[in-house]
Amino acid sequence: MNVSPQFEMRLTSFVLHVEEALEDVLGKSPLPAELTRPARLRDAMAYAVLGGGKRLRPLLVVESAGLFGVDFHYALNAGIAFELLHCYSLVHDDLPAMDNDDTRRGKPTVHKAFDEATAILAGDALQTLAFDVLTRETTHNDPAVRTALVRCLAAASGIGGMAGGQMLDLEAEGRFSGDKTPPPLTIEEIERLQRMKTGALLSACCRAGGILGKADSDAQRALDRFGRAIGFAFQLADDLLDVEGSAEEVGKAVGKDAALNKATLVSTLGPLAARRKLNDLVDDAKRALRPFGTRAEWLTACADFVAARKS
Ligand code: IPE
Ligand code: IPE
Ligand code: MG
Ligand code: MG
Ligand code: MG
Repeated sequence: MNVSPQFEMRLTSFVLHVEEALEDVLGKSPLPAELTRPARLRDAMAYAVLGGGKRLRPLLVVESAGLFGVDFHYALNAGIAFELLHCYSLVHDDLPAMDNDDTRRGKPTVHKAFDEATAILAGDALQTLAFDVLTRETTHNDPAVRTALVRCLAAASGIGGMAGGQMLDLEAEGRFSGDKTPPPLTIEEIERLQRMKTGALLSACCRAGGILGKADSDAQRALDRFGRAIGFAFQLADDLLDVEGSAEEVGKAVGKDAALNKATLVSTLGPLAARRKLNDLVDDAKRALRPFGTRAEWLTACADFVAARKS
């Protein structure tokens, strides 16, 4: 599974749009004073968000919305809300109390570059900024759409989604093999935690595209199926990179899951079977898009990107 040069070019130009939009809400252009002070907190937020990352979440929002001809700027604004939420989750995930990582996106993590308390607050403020962005008229002129987007992001990031999944993930440490006390997690338990900690936000990005486009229920169902498959595939790819990738290329430490004896599908099934499962999920994601025909060309390419990525 490879991505085409056309997709690479499209992604490169999209990443620039995302960067500009993120700078607009966080950084360079003149902002209302309440969004720029205290400067240390603003700097930590900008450090966490700008200049790195694949920008997969906004990409999924924009390409899903593109199926319905949604205005690009609306979709981009919604997309950056999902990216802000994601960046908050990374800042907190890296904290000493969680994964205790020193490197993220090829540079020191926020608590290393600033300090732990600042990193916690930067994460908090990024999370609320994400919801703020969704409530703005620049995200959609229909208040019902904006409300649905807020609910979509809240459901994906709270106890039933990312935060809940992160809790289960911490509890999965030491639950791979070892001395069997506590017992290893079952495949179903691992799937559940992965779908929550990472899959929920990614599939919500696809759902958001449908919300922006006022998709009918068949289209929304197809997008949900795509998002579910792609979300799960993404975490599987992340766990494979943790085993097979190099820290330089991935931009963060690798080998961490094994060091913590963490139950993942890669540790439980082995890398070969995990790669097969990843390919099956990508095929399923693509099948889900068939009803959209050629309109789904780029979203289909996103599925390949998730499996083929090296960082
Ligand atoms: C990393 O996400 C964290 C997980 C959810 C596995 P990404 O791999 O999308 O990180 P960036 O945004 O590209 O840095
Ligand atoms: C993090 O999963 C998922 C989040 C919700 C941030 P990981 O802990 O596996 O992500 P990395 O490997 O640090 O990026
Ligand atoms: Mg983690
Ligand atoms: Mg981590
Ligand atoms: Mg990981």
